[in-house]
Amino acid sequence: SVPTEVPAPNRVQDRTAPVPSTGSGTDPHGFVNTPDTDPSLAANRAWGDAIRARMKGSELGNATVDAHTLSTAEQVDTAITTAVAAGEAWRALGAEGRAAILHRAGDVLEQRRGDLLEVMGSEAGKVIEQGDPEVSEAIDFAHYYAESAKKLADVDGATMQPVGLTVVTPPWNFPVAIPAGSTLSALATGSPVIIKPARQARRSGAVMVEALWEAGVPREVLQYVQLDGADRGELGARLVSDPAVGRVILTGGYETAELFRGFRQDLPLLAETSGKNAIIVTPSADLDLAAKDVAYAAFGHAGQKCSAASLVVLVGSAARSERFRRQLVDAVRSYDVGAPEDGSTRIGPLIGPAEGKLLDALTTLHAGESWLLEPQKLDDAGQLWRPGIRDGVRRGSEFHRVEYFGPVLGIMTADSLTEAIDVVNDIDYGLTSGLHSLDEDEVQQWLAAIQAGNVYVNRGTTGAIVQRQPFGGWKKAAVGAGSKAGGPNYLVGLSEWTDAPVAS
Ligand code: ALA
Repeated sequence: SVPTEVPAPNRVQDRTAPVPSTGSGTDPHGFVNTPDTDPSLAANRAWGDAIRARMKGSELGNATVDAHTLSTAEQVDTAITTAVAAGEAWRALGAEGRAAILHRAGDVLEQRRGDLLEVMGSEAGKVIEQGDPEVSEAIDFAHYYAESAKKLADVDGATMQPVGLTVVTPPWNFPVAIPAGSTLSALATGSPVIIKPARQARRSGAVMVEALWEAGVPREVLQYVQLDGADRGELGARLVSDPAVGRVILTGGYETAELFRGFRQDLPLLAETSGKNAIIVTPSADLDLAAKDVAYAAFGHAGQKCSAASLVVLVGSAARSERFRRQLVDAVRSYDVGAPEDGSTRIGPLIGPAEGKLLDALTTLHAGESWLLEPQKLDDAGQLWRPGIRDGVRRGSEFHRVEYFGPVLGIMTADSLTEAIDVVNDIDYGLTSGLHSLDEDEVQQWLAAIQAGNVYVNRGTTGAIVQRQPFGGWKKAAVGAGSKAGGPNYLVGLSEWTDAPVAS
């Protein structure tokens, strides 16, 4: 018989109605991506308005942060010994037992979607349009890793064991999805976790952790910590480099990964680091679509994504296209910049005042460059910026190679697709990369040569979707990585094996 309700990846979801479980453990159709909230439903828009009204002055997560802020070395050591001891019972639960709890975690994260959007907006300036897919991704991680661990536990002839205590140090820019993904992956394999969210996003991390506790992950097995006091740098080093730590999962800048490696020579580090990502546009492309995709990939969340497009490389006649430039400027100008609690805002505030290299990139042109769209500072603090587009970026220049993590995009040109690929591969990082082309030969040429972990054709470079677009980079975009988050091999690298594993 034909099921009456077949879950489809992009089904319409009314957030004001009771939400059915999407866990693949209970779903006969296998893993299904959790749908985002559909803003075309009036009820969902009202739901969003209510969340925005709560953003200012939100206290969510504070109690957890206050109760788990450590300021002495003894407290850090106690957290470590407690987690290691509790890890034994967690491991003994087996993949099935842990998966049941992880599926529940996915359901609780769904129930707390509104809270997560409120705290991300209030603390990290994330607008609902950006935060909503992030919550969906966190939920996907819970269901996906639960099933993935069950499959790996069943591989014939191989025994999977957890690596043990995993320290998770996520970034502030995806303050729910990245901490959730790292934590859930380790928990799925049977390892206990100590998570220390970024200081700028500690309440968002706290609400995410509360959801996992509520779902049944014991508090000793998943410990939330913040480090405080003048010694917090030393406490952080102590936590990361303790010999009891079996894995450190870091998402952050390449420099932070280097810092961590300096703490302990044999640090078992899995790090997703920086990106400097480009979209190539060839003359065969749909230039209107390309302009729209580049604008969103460059300026969604004010460009504060490791996956953001920082460069567009126009090839051949596209390089001279006034139409592309006009469409791009129009698309970017259509984004309102403002507070996340304002419903019309598409680009919220930067996490802190623009300074250092980002401020330079927003204010200073280099040889050959001109402003196609000049950035504009809108507030005294220097956190609200109308985005900028610099034309004429030269190969080998600073803007060609440096990651800025903010609302500024550079345009480069190339005579051929081969040259454009060279320009992109010349960058030290290889995280995401895009091609806009309607020519299949060009697509194949690019796919064969481009050096990047996540490659997208006729689409922007941000917003990877669990299972469909496993996420992870090459070159300096990853340290000790090699398997991709949200993909079939991720848990393999988080486990010890008695025989060669075969993921499916
Ligand atoms: N996973 C995030 C994205 O794809 C970083 O945009």
